[in-house]
Amino acid sequence: MKILVTGGLGFIGSHTVVELLNEGFDVVVVDNLSNSSIDVLDGIEAITGKRPIFEEFDLRDKLKVQEFFGKYDIGGVIHFAASKAVGESVEKPLLYYENNLGVLVYILQELEKKGEGNFIFSSSCTVYGQADVMPITEDAPVKPAESPYGNTKQIGEEIIRDTCRVNPDLKAIALRYFNPFGAHPSINIGELPLGIPQNLIPFITQTGIGLRERLSVFGDDYPTEDGTCIRDYIYVVDLAKAHVKALQRLLDGKNASNYEVFNLGTGKGSSVLEVIRSFEKVSGQKLNYKVVDRRPGDVIQAYADTTKANQVLGWKAKATLDEAMKTAWDWEKKVRS
Ligand SMILES: NC(=O)c1ccc[n+]([C@@H]2O[C@H](COP(=O)([O-])OP(=O)(O)OC[C@H]3O[C@@H](n4cnc5c(N)ncnc54)[C@H](O)[C@@H]3O)[C@@H](O)[C@H]2O)c1
Repeated sequence: MKILVTGGLGFIGSHTVVELLNEGFDVVVVDNLSNSSIDVLDGIEAITGKRPIFEEFDLRDKLKVQEFFGKYDIGGVIHFAASKAVGESVEKPLLYYENNLGVLVYILQELEKKGEGNFIFSSSCTVYGQADVMPITEDAPVKPAESPYGNTKQIGEEIIRDTCRVNPDLKAIALRYFNPFGAHPSINIGELPLGIPQNLIPFITQTGIGLRERLSVFGDDYPTEDGTCIRDYIYVVDLAKAHVKALQRLLDGKNASNYEVFNLGTGKGSSVLEVIRSFEKVSGQKLNYKVVDRRPGDVIQAYADTTKANQVLGWKAKATLDEAMKTAWDWEKKVRS
């Protein structure tokens, strides 16, 4: 029995493949390398001493997806493959709906055909928008999406929920990530953003290394302690380990219902200025940044209530912001050397 990891050469996928291999799972990765590199396989092998089976194809090809499920005995699916650039999703909504929802449907159709399956979905805290209460629990209402990308996560969850309702032997867990960052401590794998980074921490490390001139801090007059926005930054290795816990829960039949949702965060919010201070502490250098106007659409604060993941999944984020920041900085230095 094999575990299919779609998008397994991407940022979160590759770290999860490492944790799965370390736990003795037999992994098959499918990736079309649209946002990753074949070299990631070497990084995974350097860490684990094992090389997962790799199938390079585009999951939008429905026939290939069908052939794949005919070829392998798949006992579980962790579905990372998706397009994730919020800005691009506004420009090219159909690309996002096709890649993030079309592919999801194709995979669920194969599991439905089998009559059973264990399915883990990469969702996001974007489904909460600006939540009214902090920290955010899984029961917080889903708010109208700010972008087609965010909408694909909301609709994706609905597609899975509706499919599970009529397929009692199909079990699924949606994991709502807060803000993943960092690299494996071995520095063999990490995040490789194409073009201008969308996320704060790769932008900071790229500025620190001299690839970007300056970081813009969008607004310091928000109603937070230091006036900058607050997010819940979760170390990617901690996040990866949660996937193994979620998969094991389904394989052991310990799930409370056949569709469950968990927040994955640290439970602690950090402001933009706190993140900059952490970088300065870990790197021993000053960061060039400038406070500019607020950016439309930014939520003021979002951090997770992780009680459910802690108690039900038996998982807790371990790394501190500084510890994880060090891996992000070490990775940046390695990539640019
Ligand atoms: N990184 C974040 O901040 C974040 C936050 C919340 C949710 N997520 C979700 O987590 C998942 C993984 O994110 P990531 O940061 O690792 O992204 P990533 O871009 O690094 O990884 C996605 C991988 O999927 C592959 N892929 C994309 N479309 C494909 C297709 N049609 N066929 C085959 N392979 C395909 C890409 O080549 C890439 O290797 C995504 O679903 C993303 O939306 C990410």
